[in-house]
Amino acid sequence: MGLRISLFGLGYVGTVSGACLAKRGHEIFGVDKNPCKVALLEGGHSPIVEAGLDELIREAVGAGRFRATVDPERAVRETDVSLVSVGTPSARDASLSLEAVETVTREIGEALRRKPGPHAVIYRSTVLPGTTDERFIPLLEETSGRRLGEGLDVCYNPEFLREGSAVADFHRPPLIVAGARTPCGFRLLETMYAGIEAEIVRTSLRTAEAVKYLANLYHALKICFANEAGAVLKEMGVDAREAMEIFCKDRVLNISAAYLRPGYAFGGSCLPKDLRAFLHGARSLNVETPLLSQLLPSNGRHVDRAFDLIAENGRGHIALFGLTFKAGTDDLRESPLVTLSERLLGKGYELRIFDPDINTARLIGANRDFIEREIPHLDRLLQPDVVSTLVGADAIVLAKVGRSEMETIASLHPEVPVIDLQGGQEPGALQGLDYRGICW
Ligand SMILES: NC(=O)c1ccc[n+]([C@@H]2O[C@H](COP(=O)([O-])OP(=O)(O)OC[C@H]3O[C@@H](n4cnc5c(N)ncnc54)[C@H](O)[C@@H]3O)[C@@H](O)[C@H]2O)c1
Repeated sequence: MGLRISLFGLGYVGTVSGACLAKRGHEIFGVDKNPCKVALLEGGHSPIVEAGLDELIREAVGAGRFRATVDPERAVRETDVSLVSVGTPSARDASLSLEAVETVTREIGEALRRKPGPHAVIYRSTVLPGTTDERFIPLLEETSGRRLGEGLDVCYNPEFLREGSAVADFHRPPLIVAGARTPCGFRLLETMYAGIEAEIVRTSLRTAEAVKYLANLYHALKICFANEAGAVLKEMGVDAREAMEIFCKDRVLNISAAYLRPGYAFGGSCLPKDLRAFLHGARSLNVETPLLSQLLPSNGRHVDRAFDLIAENGRGHIALFGLTFKAGTDDLRESPLVTLSERLLGKGYELRIFDPDINTARLIGANRDFIEREIPHLDRLLQPDVVSTLVGADAIVLAKVGRSEMETIASLHPEVPVIDLQGGQEPGALQGLDYRGICW
């Protein structure tokens, strides 16, 4: 069964959503403060230019499934769900202006005072994580006189469409992110998108808001990466289009979820060295690389963050799990855990370190020389097992810990802060621990 939806904001997102939802059998009542947009829509014309939209709107308006008004009260009264897609432009200080969203939130709340029956509000405008919880819900509750869950539901459902292919994107989204606080809220979004073949991911309001930012930040990052690396490559005599096309064929490491897990800093024998060499090459060719030049500083800032987290939670004795730059290798070159250890030692902390990958390397590996020559001061701190590592610890740092080691740590019920730089621990293994994560 179709939903009766009041749609606030007949801009790019609103108009496309409205037309496509009407096509899928919902009844849409659009609201915009701009009477010209309302008149255009009422006349069966799209207020924005977008491929395929005029036709969809003509059809929906003709069938009586897409109306429009400047009167928010009437639209709320005649619908059960409000979709909010008004603009959130940059304010003068570069912050996000919530003025329009708050205005319509107030209008919806006030209309709800006089409207019987339950009502749900689905926010689609892009807002920073926490905004729906902290600003919109309190404002809705205050203006409507209702409490969340008592005749009032609130969801956040980010929009990922691209202008130019928005209609096609709406019907074939990569995924649908459903942020809600109640089972009813999730079911509502599932009803709204019924028939669209895409995974519907249920999450909190705050995470749904965050995912929209991750997407846009990442898209911007990718474009700058391609352009900046491309500009350097051109000076190196490479056609970056061809190089990037080949690069993109690797769907395992390059175009994939690899390296996108928040955790600790990068290191090792390749990434820092190759970045430095490429940046040096770019400088000698007089190509500016503001993005790529910030990678090593950003990575260093993450080591600072780990140090600060440990300093906030540990007093003097730290049990550190992990020392090589990643799991499954004995390579210690440019390991950011070596940097962290040295910083802690320099500040007077006492360390006990456990890293089974090095224990093996010390006995047989080619890294034996490196350990004895480069880090004898850390080698002395390496422990043979989990139990001896934990002796006297007033904070435990998980940087590279395996499942069985984690189980041993948990079984010993340490009553000290457990600082996780790694993530991905089994939730069961963390129960009862005084747990703090670096990015979570
Ligand atoms: N454009 C995109 O491709 C895109 C994609 C995803 C998300 N978003 C986000 O969606 C939101 C809307 O973006 P857009 O590009 O559709 O914006 P837009 O500027 O095209 O449209 C916003 C509409 O809201 C109307 N409006 C403003 N105040 C109002 C009020 N008080 N009452 C009723 N109507 C009001 C405006 O008249 C306008 O028609 C923004 O938060 C944006 O960041 C945009």
